[in-house]
Amino acid sequence: MVAVAVLGAAGGIGQPISLLLKLNTEITKLHLYDIVRCPGVGADVSHINTDSEVKTFQGATQLKECLEGMQIVVIPAGVPRKPGMTRDDLFNINAGIVRDLVQAVAEACPKAFVCIISNPVNSTVPIAAEVLKKNGVYDPRRVFGVTTLDVVRSSRFIRDIRPEFSCSRSVTVIGGHSGNTIIPILSSLAAELNLSTEEVDALTHRIQFGGDEVVKAKNGEGSATLSMAYAGSRFVSSLIAAVKGRPASECSYIDLDAHPSAAESAAHIGVTGLSHFSLPVALGPDGVDGIAPHDKPGAREAELIKEAVVAIKSNIAAGTAFVLNK
Ligand code: NAI
Repeated sequence: MVAVAVLGAAGGIGQPISLLLKLNTEITKLHLYDIVRCPGVGADVSHINTDSEVKTFQGATQLKECLEGMQIVVIPAGVPRKPGMTRDDLFNINAGIVRDLVQAVAEACPKAFVCIISNPVNSTVPIAAEVLKKNGVYDPRRVFGVTTLDVVRSSRFIRDIRPEFSCSRSVTVIGGHSGNTIIPILSSLAAELNLSTEEVDALTHRIQFGGDEVVKAKNGEGSATLSMAYAGSRFVSSLIAAVKGRPASECSYIDLDAHPSAAESAAHIGVTGLSHFSLPVALGPDGVDGIAPHDKPGAREAELIKEAVVAIKSNIAAGTAFVLNK
């Protein structure tokens, strides 16, 4: 049995991710929750002829019932960016949404894997950690910031300039999930693909600010939803594979206490004094099971890491303070 809940299921990401999760034949129960429009989305998705049973829940009074027995909880609830906004501008609204949803997780399904999509991920993941700690149910191996879209974009953007590069090949992306905290490790690929310094710089910038391309093109109608749904469903598929004993790995923004090798790998690349950072994670039946083999940062990436650490530190502090100072 694999039971998955989507919180924010009627949204721009919520709807297509619910569709993709309905198509995942390993999922047996799919619970969809939102504060609006959820019965329609649920009825629609439930007609797809895969075996999973779809149930719909709407409004805070049904949240606990939605979460009972869930093994994986995916959270794309919250507001997206409009042109000119950074992900940090979403903090004031989304911090409270994530805090309240994770409080319900702590009470109804404390052992579930929690996959956080809501931005700013650099802060919402520490918020989730603090809420679970407050409730005495925190397992750092089980809480993930979903940064898979940065990896998906990296593969595709490299393919755009080097058609011989296979889109299905994963690229290591570390750091956080906003602007210059996103660090694609391109050094060894640059040698392999004969990328010039200018090409590496342009690629790095495009990967870091790829979300802005979508925000701009949608012109006030939101941010990435379809590519994000794809990325999120890929992350959930990898998690399910790991739970079922098949080797899997994904880059994800995790608690560095989740595994001794996480803190060790982070320290090795100059990341100290942070509770969270995105690394290539080996996934196992209990979640984070170590650090997956990955390309090592080169000298230029080491500089980017230094900048990212400063920004992520303040993002984490904002998230932690939001829960602890209430
Ligand atoms: P959207 O506005 O289309 O959908 C959000 C949904 O959340 C809505 O249906 C809304 O009713 C629901 N919602 C609001 N408060 C809720 C609550 N308390 N409980 C349950 N549901 C609630 O937004 P969209 O485009 O789906 O984006 C959602 C979030 O995902 C945003 O914060 C966005 O920044 C983030 N995002 C993250 C990415 C990543 O790579 N991690 C990529 C793209 C977006």
